[in-house]
Amino acid sequence: MRLDKYLGDHNIGTRKQIKEYVKNGRCKVNGVVALKSDIHIDENKDEISFDDIILSYRKFHYYILNKPQGVVSATIDGKNTTVLDLLKDENVKGLSPCGRLDIDTEGLLLITDDGGLIHRLLSPKKHVDKVYEVHLGKKLSDTDKFKLEEGVDIGDKKDDGTIDFTLPSKITYGPDDEAGRPVIFLTIHEGRFHQVKRMLEAVGNEVLFLKRISMGPIKLPDDLEKGCYRPLTDQEIDLLNS
Ligand code: URA
Repeated sequence: MRLDKYLGDHNIGTRKQIKEYVKNGRCKVNGVVALKSDIHIDENKDEISFDDIILSYRKFHYYILNKPQGVVSATIDGKNTTVLDLLKDENVKGLSPCGRLDIDTEGLLLITDDGGLIHRLLSPKKHVDKVYEVHLGKKLSDTDKFKLEEGVDIGDKKDDGTIDFTLPSKITYGPDDEAGRPVIFLTIHEGRFHQVKRMLEAVGNEVLFLKRISMGPIKLPDDLEKGCYRPLTDQEIDLLNS
């Protein structure tokens, strides 16, 4: 990979800044000052340092995407744009979305080639928090809020044939949206198929707009535009692995 890309992935700066830093002799490849940022390095073998600090080699790649509507959470799709298509400038080999958002759902999607992390984040046993901003067809009554927080029947059955109620969830009311539709913030700890839509349907309501705003310790940054992505920072990766 190119040296400037490698340094960019380590959040050293913008491409323009990196070019300048490298020109000023701040980066070494295998102990030798590299004066050009467009040279190619082998990130698996070469030792790269910046200001004499060795940048640890990351075996895996981690991105956060603000998924827009109309894009599918798949690696390939014959018809629709996939979330990997949005990672235009990256080598997407081996990358997968960490879970799925419906085609009409927006918001936070983690994309990585770290299968262990995907497994840990999606495992039903781990109960990782997922927070959704949900715009509703009608106001949610306190009774329905209570029912959803306790767990509802969304049509799933356990192996023994009994109802598989959703796990307890947490709801807070938000201000109405610009169109005057009621908004809630719903935190769930599982990821069943169309879960949020089916939960609201179970109490006779309807989801008109859905956006995921956080997953575990990672929040959708306010400045990450729809359709845009960035690598996770080292700190964010550590949080996910802790
Ligand atoms: N729940 C849904 O119904 N859809 C999503 O995309 C995510 C959670």
